[in-house]
Amino acid sequence: MPPVNVTRRTRIIRRMAKEKTNYCCSECGGVSPKWLGKCPHCNAWNTLIESTVESSAPARNRFASLAKTAEVATLGDIEAMDLDRTPTGHEELDRVLGGGMVEGGVVLIGGDPGIGKSTLLLQALDSLQRSGRSTLYVTGEESGAQIALRSRRLGLGHSQVKVLAEIQLDKILATLEATKPDVAVIDSIQTVYSEQLTSAPGSVAQVRECAAHLTRCAKASGVGMVLVGHVTKDGSLAGPRVLEHMVDTVLYFEGDTHSSFRLVRAIKNRFGAVNEIGVFAMTEKGLKGVSNPSAIFLSQHAEPVPGSCVMVTLEGTRPMLVEIQALVDSGGPSPRRLSVGLDKDRLAMLLAVLHRHAGVACMDQDVFVNAVGGVRISEPAADLAVLLAITSSLRGKPLPKGFLAFGEVGLAGEVRPAPRGQERLKEAAKLGFSVAVVPKANAPKKPIDGLTIHAVERVEQAMEAARSLA
Ligand code: TYD
Ligand code: MG
Repeated sequence: MPPVNVTRRTRIIRRMAKEKTNYCCSECGGVSPKWLGKCPHCNAWNTLIESTVESSAPARNRFASLAKTAEVATLGDIEAMDLDRTPTGHEELDRVLGGGMVEGGVVLIGGDPGIGKSTLLLQALDSLQRSGRSTLYVTGEESGAQIALRSRRLGLGHSQVKVLAEIQLDKILATLEATKPDVAVIDSIQTVYSEQLTSAPGSVAQVRECAAHLTRCAKASGVGMVLVGHVTKDGSLAGPRVLEHMVDTVLYFEGDTHSSFRLVRAIKNRFGAVNEIGVFAMTEKGLKGVSNPSAIFLSQHAEPVPGSCVMVTLEGTRPMLVEIQALVDSGGPSPRRLSVGLDKDRLAMLLAVLHRHAGVACMDQDVFVNAVGGVRISEPAADLAVLLAITSSLRGKPLPKGFLAFGEVGLAGEVRPAPRGQERLKEAAKLGFSVAVVPKANAPKKPIDGLTIHAVERVEQAMEAARSLA
């Protein structure tokens, strides 16, 4: 048969089946009817991905379940309803969720493999079930028997949590429709696949399509839904952040899998505060909340060592003391700058400030910086502690016992205040710290018992203060 007929026939079949394939750019979201190497909208290469193959009839109703009000109303006249929150029974998890699970709310929880996502969610579902809520745990990674084994290990012997081992989207949606649980967990979104797409499970198109369907299902039926997501090597949730826009709450697990502490951080929350942190310890019997975590990120040195400086970080509502460690060592022709738990670009900037304004040069040195315990610090208040740890390592002189510092460092060498400085200082004093180098604007008006404050305005003053104390 000549090729022209084949094309025509395919076209007719497609038209009859009312199928439509789009290619969507993962960078700009632009749509192209055919696959191209370069996105016609933003000119990025290799970003077009198969988006959907669906008949046109359901396409028209795609968002039917989302739009509940059809009339335009004045904002003041719309009755504001208080959110009905269901506490999970785990205080630290409720803290990051903003008080508990919300009816119809969708939570995305990401983290490295083996960090404890499945463990925490199984524990949460069990306590919800025990408090009288109906729950469903959909597993695509482990069998029902494996989940049962884990629940025995967690001491949840006669758990009434319903388990469904399934990866096909339609079947999951049908089960959700039939059982109507109060809270459902999908572990993980990367294993779920829709037969309407030809791409493999875990591909961006599949992840996005399945998450969109599950989100619509949650909104329409009022199920509180938790989607578990794997992170890619660069640390973002697979499916270039598309899922983060779709869901109400995004939580990330942080922490070193080798240490027993785990942090759960809220990155986005439509129902609560962001940057709130929940702290857990991994034990024999699963994850246990740590209600007073201020001192867990300090390593226990018998005597002060060079290259270590403690700071107080305040992410969320609780101050926590974190040890910043630095190692400065003679490097090769292209010295390395490596940071774990702190921003790498910011480290390069701080080294330039240190050179220009305090005359401390590390150009020919390797510089490694680490926040102890796998905690990630995104606030600039860590700057001063990073610089003091670096200079301490470079000079081989430890900072004094009971020393701490915090404050943001600007490009002009100025030291800027950190928010809620008093709270940070009080927490440090409570834990027995005795000397602090802080920005001038953070110096307390009334002295704090047991704490000597050195208020500084510039980075060179901070270096001088630390040198005089060492
Ligand atoms: P898991 O919840 O399976 O991780 P994820 O779902 O994020 O991949 O966590 C598994 C790890 O937790 C595994 O390394 C063993 C450890 N663990 C404990 O230490 N204690 C426990 O009670 C359980 C259930 C797991
Ligand atoms: Mg898991």
